[in-house]
Amino acid sequence: MGVSSLGYVGLSVSDPAAWEAFACQRLGLMSAGTQDGVTRLRLDSRAWRIALHQGSEDDLAYAGFEVDSIEALCELEQGLAAAGFPVKRGDDELLAARQVQQMIITEDPGGIPIELYCGLMDRGNVPFASPAGTSAFVTGEQGLGHFVVSAPDRERFYAFYCDVLGMKLSDKIQMGPLALEFFHCNPRHHTVAMAPVPFPKRIHHLMFEVQNIDDVGFALDRCEQAGDTISTTLGKHSNDQMVSFYVKSPAGFDVEYGYGAIAVDDATWRIGHYDKMSIWGHKGL
Ligand SMILES: [Fe+2]
Repeated sequence: MGVSSLGYVGLSVSDPAAWEAFACQRLGLMSAGTQDGVTRLRLDSRAWRIALHQGSEDDLAYAGFEVDSIEALCELEQGLAAAGFPVKRGDDELLAARQVQQMIITEDPGGIPIELYCGLMDRGNVPFASPAGTSAFVTGEQGLGHFVVSAPDRERFYAFYCDVLGMKLSDKIQMGPLALEFFHCNPRHHTVAMAPVPFPKRIHHLMFEVQNIDDVGFALDRCEQAGDTISTTLGKHSNDQMVSFYVKSPAGFDVEYGYGAIAVDDATWRIGHYDKMSIWGHKGL
């Protein structure tokens, strides 16, 4: 059964107000307000998708993967323990903070705290409205987006993300000795990707996908206008065919902002193999 999508991420940031302004004013996310010192951001009808915690790491603090049922969550709990990964239940305080019904906590092979949960609060009574005019993000069964992690121990990565969490390889991009691998758990081409090289942060980037190419262009204009560092120019990826740009977030790691990725259908999907990241653009990647 495994996990069904990337549901939320928590970021430890030294300047939450700057990250919130970046996310809301430039990328078009919606603030859900600040409670107990934590600022939460929305991308859709869910109560939140991004939590900004005051901290010195300027990095990913935790990632939450959604699980469809309590039965599936129990299976994952057993699978993690059997494979030698740490596992404990989230207490009532944590369930309330995350606005979920049930949760187990583990750690991926790179040391990233991972929360597997059921039932993230929906706030359909307060519709998503982007303060920047972004039309809509691609979420739903595809979750909030994707992130890319460093995985020096490839076998252990596979043991965690594929054997236990149930993700499947979508394709691989081989550039000389360096192979990047991309994994899906729903129609989103990849929810997690990994590179066998160290990164300065836990994630290389976090990706949001919008439903309209103009949303990408408008966001790029707003980032440039605000003086953000555009890490890569607009470009189109070889494997998922997403048209995107990368911008440096106030925490130092990049955000990829794109449109038009192809969807994976497991019934017909064939694992791809590519020799470049992008078919055009993405200068600087
Ligand atoms: Fe990406």
